[in-house]
Amino acid sequence: MEGSLTARDRVGIQDFVLLDAYTSESAVLDNLRKRFNENLIYVSLSPTQSRGITYAAHLYPSAVLLNLYIALPFSYALADNVYRTMLTETNNHFILISGESGAGKTEASKKILQFYAVSCPSTKLLDNVRDRLLLSNPVLEAFGNAKTLKNDNSSRFGKYMDIQFDHMGGAVGGHILSYLLEKSRVVHQNHGERSFHIFYQLVEGGEEDLLRWLGLERNCQRYSYLVQGECAKVSSVNDKSDWKTVRKALSVIEFSESNIESLFAIIASVLHLGNVTFVADSQGYATLNNSPEIHWLSKLLGIPAQVIQVGLTHRKIEARSEEVLSPFTVDQAVYAKDALAKAIYGRTFTWLVNELNESLANKDSSRKTVIGLLDIYGFEVFSVNSFEQFCINYCNEKLQQLFIQLTLKSEQEEYEMEGIEWESVPYFNNKIICDLVEEKFKGIISVLDEECLRPGEATDMTFLEKLEEKMGGHAHFIKHKLADQKTRKTLERGDFRLLHYAGEVTYSVVGFLDKNNDLLYRNIKEVSSKNAIVKHCFPSTEPDSKKRPETVATQFKSSLVGLTEILMSKEPWYVRCMKPNEGKQPGLFDDVLVRHQVKYLGLMEHLRVRRAGFAYRRRYEIFLQRYKPLCPDTWPNWKGTAAEGVECLVKHLGYKPDEYKMGRTKIFIRHPRTLFATEDAFEVCKHELATRIQAKYKGYRVKGDYMRQRQAATKIETCWRGMKARREREKRAWAVKVIKRFIKGFMTRNQPACVDNTDYLAFVRQNYLTRLKENLPKTVVDKNTWLTPPPIMQEASQMLRKLYTRHMVRRYVQGIMTERKAQLQIKGLTSSIFKGTKENYPHSVGIPFVDTRISKGDLVLQCDYLFEALTKLCLVANKHNFIKVVQGSVKFDIQPGREGFVDFKSGQETMIYRAKNGHLMVVSMKLKTVWPFNSQNEQIHFLNYY
Ligand SMILES: Nc1ncnc2c1ncn2[C@@H]1O[C@H](COP(=O)(O)OP(=O)(O)OP(=O)(O)O)[C@@H](O)[C@H]1O
Ligand SMILES: [Mg+2]
Repeated sequence: MEGSLTARDRVGIQDFVLLDAYTSESAVLDNLRKRFNENLIYVSLSPTQSRGITYAAHLYPSAVLLNLYIALPFSYALADNVYRTMLTETNNHFILISGESGAGKTEASKKILQFYAVSCPSTKLLDNVRDRLLLSNPVLEAFGNAKTLKNDNSSRFGKYMDIQFDHMGGAVGGHILSYLLEKSRVVHQNHGERSFHIFYQLVEGGEEDLLRWLGLERNCQRYSYLVQGECAKVSSVNDKSDWKTVRKALSVIEFSESNIESLFAIIASVLHLGNVTFVADSQGYATLNNSPEIHWLSKLLGIPAQVIQVGLTHRKIEARSEEVLSPFTVDQAVYAKDALAKAIYGRTFTWLVNELNESLANKDSSRKTVIGLLDIYGFEVFSVNSFEQFCINYCNEKLQQLFIQLTLKSEQEEYEMEGIEWESVPYFNNKIICDLVEEKFKGIISVLDEECLRPGEATDMTFLEKLEEKMGGHAHFIKHKLADQKTRKTLERGDFRLLHYAGEVTYSVVGFLDKNNDLLYRNIKEVSSKNAIVKHCFPSTEPDSKKRPETVATQFKSSLVGLTEILMSKEPWYVRCMKPNEGKQPGLFDDVLVRHQVKYLGLMEHLRVRRAGFAYRRRYEIFLQRYKPLCPDTWPNWKGTAAEGVECLVKHLGYKPDEYKMGRTKIFIRHPRTLFATEDAFEVCKHELATRIQAKYKGYRVKGDYMRQRQAATKIETCWRGMKARREREKRAWAVKVIKRFIKGFMTRNQPACVDNTDYLAFVRQNYLTRLKENLPKTVVDKNTWLTPPPIMQEASQMLRKLYTRHMVRRYVQGIMTERKAQLQIKGLTSSIFKGTKENYPHSVGIPFVDTRISKGDLVLQCDYLFEALTKLCLVANKHNFIKVVQGSVKFDIQPGREGFVDFKSGQETMIYRAKNGHLMVVSMKLKTVWPFNSQNEQIHFLNYY
């Protein structure tokens, strides 16, 4: 709500209670105009209270946008509010909808009802109730609404409807109370007005068969009760389609076919009755002029024609013990006829409401909560105001009294609850006017009843005189005779004026007595009818009762007392409807009209009552929450209780002690200006605050992002580290395992292969092989280089060594040139011949053989060394095993049978000579290096060399 305070200069103030000049009608009007111009559809007169009273003035600025586009949001919001409060507090509520004719009361109430129909929980059973509740409206409107000069669908009765809800909030039933149906409309309408819709609907929309059965023609002009206003047809009303709606509604509400027939028979009979005319006979008494109507009346009402005829032209008088029929004059007969029409219609309407209630009744006796909708006429002030306006305005006085009681009561209760002293405030208590009207033996109604009931010639004027007598000095009663000169000019002789709380209304007494009496002659009431409804409405026991029936005013008074009791037990909510102009013009704000409504809706008085005491109150938490930026101590956060916070805040704002009061849970501010000053300060502060909040928010967002990123980084880091640590741990565990296995393997290395040493041995093998690979002998002759193998590799090592040696040999051999090969082969041959047989052979191995030159014809060997020479000899002879090493000397066969010997020895100088034994002696010098064949004992045998 506070949010709307700031734009108050332009759009006005939503809560009228906060108007500074709340006593000024112009200020109220001004505010309404602003709200109207801004298309702000409703004006709340105090939604500030947590519960209790919410007012609204419906203003429909645009007639083009008519049909509820505008007023709806408020109606729905209010309906919703009431519904929720009812559910949470499980108590009963009522919504009082008031306003002058055509202001939108009925529309608002229908929309509220529709809201409940749509928003309440739905089940098959509840939907049935919902349909009946909704459809009760068109039926009631058909029988109780009519076109008037102010409204084409004017409700001609007051309506209070209870909607009953179960504990789940489902609409389970309803009950309707009707007040003061304007029966006189049946027999008389002002120019431009119509009778109740149902007559036109029946004539225009009724099926041919039905009309035939009812003896009606499809022409409204044929019925004198329908043509007095000379506007049987209205462009805004579609009687035909409305008829269909009503027919459908009646069947949904489960009216029996026979009841529906009886109902239409009554409607038709009223039309026939209207066409009955009388002529004066020779004595001046009334006689019936036409019989067809009587025939139809008799048929439709189920009363013998004779009885009707007599009833319409005679009155039954009791003279001593006898009953005598006294004939009517024509005027009296017309009066009796109209009275009968009104009575039939009026009672049928009551029957209809009862039937609807039957249909809406919830048979379940479990506890229910109730929301009542009171669609009731507001103050009526016409140029001529009669008995009806008197009753209606009296009703409004009663409602005002109820309002005062409920408002002050709830205010007082709230003050008490909050521990705030109640200060009595000046407001106008209209009890004085209510008493003026209703007080027993003294009030206007009493005087009127007295006048109606007293024997003798009582007239409206005698009634006025009585009033004068009794009310003479009353401050709220003015009469021509008693008025001052100036006032007297504004009053007719037959007028009296009441100073209602909302304003003055002048009433003309003409017809008061008649209307109050609502006289129906006994012989008409006595008839016994075959029409079920008539039978029910005019029970045969009634005429026997000698007691006079209650007058209309007294009945109305009692029904209002009943209504007040009903309402007093409920929580009130108010909807005040206003119309901006009479012509339904879009955007037109008729100052005079609105001012008139403001006055007669009693808004000024309402404001005064509502402003009794403090204009504004708010729970501490809410107040502190909104205004805490205005004080450095409370902003941004207040650490103590909300009440302390508010105390600190208002001190900082400089509230004067008499400007506010601290309740138990709420702060009360006396003048709106104090609140507005606070609100203005808040408005200024808001922008700065917005920037700060924005900055903070941005910072917060960025910080949030940063924190999220940091968190993410930490998370990733943690995961990564965790993963690394886990890997490390796994590695270590693995290493420990490996080392353990290694040690165990080492310890068991010499045992036969088993699980424990398999790996170790494999490692040893691999390790040995790897190292071996790096340390292989480089040459074939390198016999020393070979890694000592671990015990398990002994055998393999040997095999490898062999393999490798062979490999090297092979490589060596493959790399040897042909010449060298030949040379080596010779060497090989030498080895095969001499190895192991000659002691000095190994010393010759390293000495290469030089090439041999062989001269033609003879073998000429020129060798430095014997081994070489011998080998070559073998080669030449191609006889490798011809050489035999023997000890001492070499024997050879020169010719068969002749053999020679060569002896070898070493000496000082080299010489060859024939020794004494005939052997060839070879002396060779003793060389440092040991030569082959240099031993004296060595002999070489050349066997068959050539
Ligand atoms: N809020 C609204 N906005 C626009 N038009 C509306 C609004 N409320 C009612 N009307 C129009 O005004 C007409 C009269 O409304 P409604 O019948 O509700 O008045 P009322 O206050 O019940 O009058 P009465 O006292 O005569 O029964 C409606 O038929 C509708 O056309
Ligand atoms: Mg209405």
